[in-house]
Amino acid sequence: MPADLNPIDKAKFIAAKRAVGFVQDGMKLGLGTGSTAAWMVRCLAERIREEGLRVVGVPTSTRTAELAVSLGVPLSTLDEVKWLDLTIDGADEFDPSLNLIKGGGAALLQEKIVATASDQMIVITDAAKEVVQLGAFPLPVEVIPFGWQTTKALVEETLVSMDVLGRDVTLRMTGDRPLVTDESNYILDLHLNRIGNPRQLALVLNQIPGVVENGLFIDICDIVIIGHADGRAVVR
Ligand code: 5RP
Repeated sequence: MPADLNPIDKAKFIAAKRAVGFVQDGMKLGLGTGSTAAWMVRCLAERIREEGLRVVGVPTSTRTAELAVSLGVPLSTLDEVKWLDLTIDGADEFDPSLNLIKGGGAALLQEKIVATASDQMIVITDAAKEVVQLGAFPLPVEVIPFGWQTTKALVEETLVSMDVLGRDVTLRMTGDRPLVTDESNYILDLHLNRIGNPRQLALVLNQIPGVVENGLFIDICDIVIIGHADGRAVVR
């Protein structure tokens, strides 16, 4: 383990290291986005360097691509490889059914496409992301910039019609401008508190014109690895 890590980074590193242990020679891998996924890319680079592991990665964001390239992890595109053996990614929340909220790092669209095109998805996390019910973390929804205020109003109307508890919807900003995703879209954050029926909400949100994708990952994740600062990795 790298020296001088704070407890949160230790936990993330432990989870990442354990997940990278699942990688086998010749695998095609989806590489997630975020601070935990960045540890996974570093651990993967170490195995490539030290064991001569031959893998190819499909990154889920420009950030992950840049990190992978800087560490010598070979990359490809989803269109080139078409299907992946394994995706390893972080999450913002996971529930007892291993359903997730993702998109805190604004990469949910590529993350969902890549994870769905994988035989297996492993989520790596620290214990703080475990919840009984999804929704305390604001649910990211990627929308196209054209008419985004109308899309936002339609999302709000939908939340009212579904009797969702929290209905505050905000446009994600970076400084005084809307945050723009790798796919040139905007992100709406839905402050819902609790999501009673994540499966239904995921389906309904994606039917709204202007919505590209939402951050609910339902029945996509197979395994969650929870890292702890004391060195334990708990597998769910
Ligand atoms: C990016 C994501 C990330 O996986 C999620 O935000 C977790 O990030 P971190 O590992 O930094 O806590 O969904 O879109």
